[in-house]
Amino acid sequence: MKPLLEVDRLQTAFRTEQGEVTSVEEVSFRIGHGETVAVVGESGCGKSVTSLSILNLLGKNGYIKSGKITFENRELTRLNAEQLRRIRGKEISMIFQDPMSSLNPVLTIGNQLTETILQHEDASPGEARERAVYLLKRVGIARAEAIAKQYPHSLSGGMRQRVMIAMALACRPKLLIADEPTTALDVTIQAQILALIKELKEEFRTSIMLITHDLGVVAEMADRVLVMYAGQVVEETDVYTLFEAARHPYTQGLLSSIPHLDNPSEKLSSIPGSVPSITQMPKGCRFQDRCALAADKCRRECPPLFQTENGHLVRCWLVEDEKHLSELSSYALH
Ligand SMILES: Nc1ncnc2c1ncn2[C@@H]1O[C@H](COP(=O)(O)OP(=O)(O)O)[C@@H](O)[C@H]1O
Ligand SMILES: [Mg+2]
Repeated sequence: MKPLLEVDRLQTAFRTEQGEVTSVEEVSFRIGHGETVAVVGESGCGKSVTSLSILNLLGKNGYIKSGKITFENRELTRLNAEQLRRIRGKEISMIFQDPMSSLNPVLTIGNQLTETILQHEDASPGEARERAVYLLKRVGIARAEAIAKQYPHSLSGGMRQRVMIAMALACRPKLLIADEPTTALDVTIQAQILALIKELKEEFRTSIMLITHDLGVVAEMADRVLVMYAGQVVEETDVYTLFEAARHPYTQGLLSSIPHLDNPSEKLSSIPGSVPSITQMPKGCRFQDRCALAADKCRRECPPLFQTENGHLVRCWLVEDEKHLSELSSYALH
């Protein structure tokens, strides 16, 4: 079956005072029907830019330099703003870390939801209002009728995020893009919101692109995982393989930074150093300066994404060396 979304060698750049900077480099991935794909990586690695490229929400100075984004049978990079606007909210919805940035402060919660529904669906105002209240209940808001009459600023952060999810689901989108949806919330509310997204995914069969820097969230939610570093995909695999057999030194570093639940006193290690700036990308592997295993070749040449087993992709020369070794040993056996 064809995937719902296919991103093929996407390159996204920004015009800046220093000239053009490429923020996302040759990023490819697919999201299947009903699948949750997590995108992880530290701040500044290109997660948000990748997701904003899908509906071309890159602002004045951002643009897609090359690549293809296929959603069902449509090539999104060829559509104009109006065509994309019709897809946004109806077929692809987005939720962000800060719900206030997407909620209209001068409209009541009920009116915003009703408007969204009326904009995209063939419903009467009465039906739209009814559906708005139903959605608020569905995302776990008690006293939905009363909340519908309130303005966004009078709600707590957790409540606003629930409202955002209700808005995002108002038109039963095929794809939900959630960019750090729980980062601003405290742990208990975070767990409730994640449980809600999961439940809604089961009910509506929505595919999800979930952006997070939190591997705990990945373990909880994802089917497949894309690890990004400095604008590139450095590893892609299913969620089990990620936790059992991650191959890229960057992913391994991220994994060793998670606190251990069974031994919370264990010291947290985090990867020393920081992500290189997009204006000063090193030649060769972009992770070289932070990698304990970096060799001469890593400083000379950027590794391609090597495929190991079961579609596991890793951008690291070590993997090629191992493959080479196993080829040699199987050769020696014959
Ligand atoms: N509007 C912009 N103008 C210039 N550079 C940008 C802009 N938006 C993002 N970038 C750059 O693109 C890179 C990736 O950013 P982003 O996708 O926001 O990272 P992440 O979401 O992984 O934290 C960063 O280096 C960031 O500085
Ligand atoms: Mg981001």
